[in-house]
Amino acid sequence: MTQPACPLPVADPESGLEILKGLFRKRSLLTALTLMHEHVGDVFQITMPVFNPAVAIGPLTNRQIMVSDREKFLWRPEGDPVTRLLRHGVLVVDGEEHDHYRGIMDPPLQRRHVNNHIAGFWKYTNDVIANWADGRIQDMLVEMRKVALLILMGTMFKVEFAPDLERLWQPILKAIHYISPGAWIMWSDMPRPTYRKSLKMLDDYLYKVIQVRRGELASGKMPVDPGDLLGELIRAGLDDDRIRDQMLTMLIAGHDTSTALLAWVFYLLGTHPEEMAQVVAEIDGVIVTADRPPRLDEINQLRYLDQVIKEVLRLYPPIHIGNRAAAEDLQLGGYDVAKGSRVMYSIYLSHRDKKYWDNPEQFCPARFERHIKRHQPPLTYVPFGGGPRNCIGAAFAQVESKVVLARILQLFDLTLLNADKIKPHMGATLEPRPSVKMLVQRRAYHA
Ligand code: HEM
Repeated sequence: MTQPACPLPVADPESGLEILKGLFRKRSLLTALTLMHEHVGDVFQITMPVFNPAVAIGPLTNRQIMVSDREKFLWRPEGDPVTRLLRHGVLVVDGEEHDHYRGIMDPPLQRRHVNNHIAGFWKYTNDVIANWADGRIQDMLVEMRKVALLILMGTMFKVEFAPDLERLWQPILKAIHYISPGAWIMWSDMPRPTYRKSLKMLDDYLYKVIQVRRGELASGKMPVDPGDLLGELIRAGLDDDRIRDQMLTMLIAGHDTSTALLAWVFYLLGTHPEEMAQVVAEIDGVIVTADRPPRLDEINQLRYLDQVIKEVLRLYPPIHIGNRAAAEDLQLGGYDVAKGSRVMYSIYLSHRDKKYWDNPEQFCPARFERHIKRHQPPLTYVPFGGGPRNCIGAAFAQVESKVVLARILQLFDLTLLNADKIKPHMGATLEPRPSVKMLVQRRAYHA
């Protein structure tokens, strides 16, 4: 093999060892990547046995990977667990096949249809918080997963998920664990039989939902309305296997991310009382009644909450890394990358780069009050990715998170109890672990 003319810079052996440890302990991987960014630069290579991805940070390479050179990248390498789990899901296929599914799935997720789901976001939040006893402790990581799952299934697929929530809770967590970073990165062909039963339970459930919905559509009992993703997938003529792939993709990508976002909001507001007070005051001032879903114009007036959410997505982007494979020999940030190599763009590090952010480690929602876009190159802030394959659920997640947070903070005072124990954990998303324990007290005003 010929040596590349301009090889990727590599980390020193010490950082390399940190990365290796990080793969098994998961937490220190972020620290190791931060160190490598500081010491090696905006583009570097991780050098481990059989795992040598190129890592890229910052607006220039973000643009290259997501926009200008996107045809030179594949979204998922063969054998990757995400590809194995989601098969032909819109997240993991390329070219025409991707564009076909995306074309079907984009319209129901457009903002104008997402706004029709506000009542659903509100209702499913109510369903979960109805079980919160005054003065008890709740783990927001668990509670927000319940909210996000009920919302995703109820709005996108028109399925009441509550009766199946308990039974499918572990299978869903298993599916997430299946695609989380781990030792498989080095031995991608290793058999993983412990997941089989859980993944089959999920599949059986999804195929059943598809079958029931086909029946309802055929009988005219439940026609397709705007925003009804499952209805659109059926109407487009996809077979059950391909619909299963899109549903599982949306189920995982559409709830695990929102869970992480909401849990991080509670962690950061729980550790920043002034910002918490400002958010609550804004919600009380805008949404003056507690007995109906907020209207769209009210949601749009929650400007400080919007800044809080943006700042949380900057500091703890649920999808903290974008995975690609080089489809051909290419240059990344001026360095040679061989066809087939893994390439990762780090959203986490782009969002904490001192070149583009003042005091990047600081939680400062007001930074989004200023028009930072004017001062920053495009694609510096990329919590939802960018270009034609940006997050299909970005509008959904933005409205959903505001409605859920407004509802909870309207009804409860929250006190964080385990702040010093919480660390970012790299699962399928970046999560606050081990839990976000909060004392929940019903607010007198809305009692
Ligand atoms: C806070 C919430 C969310 C965050 C931070 C987030 C983040 C992202 C990011 C960064 C990407 C691009 C990944 C890449 O470049 O490799 C992405 C893609 C995607 N997201 Fe989201 N997401 C969120 C919510 C959602 C929701 C609610 C849904 C579904 C309703 C969803 C479905 C998807 C899908 C299907 C893709 C793949 C799109 C494609 O390749 O065409 N996401 N998301």
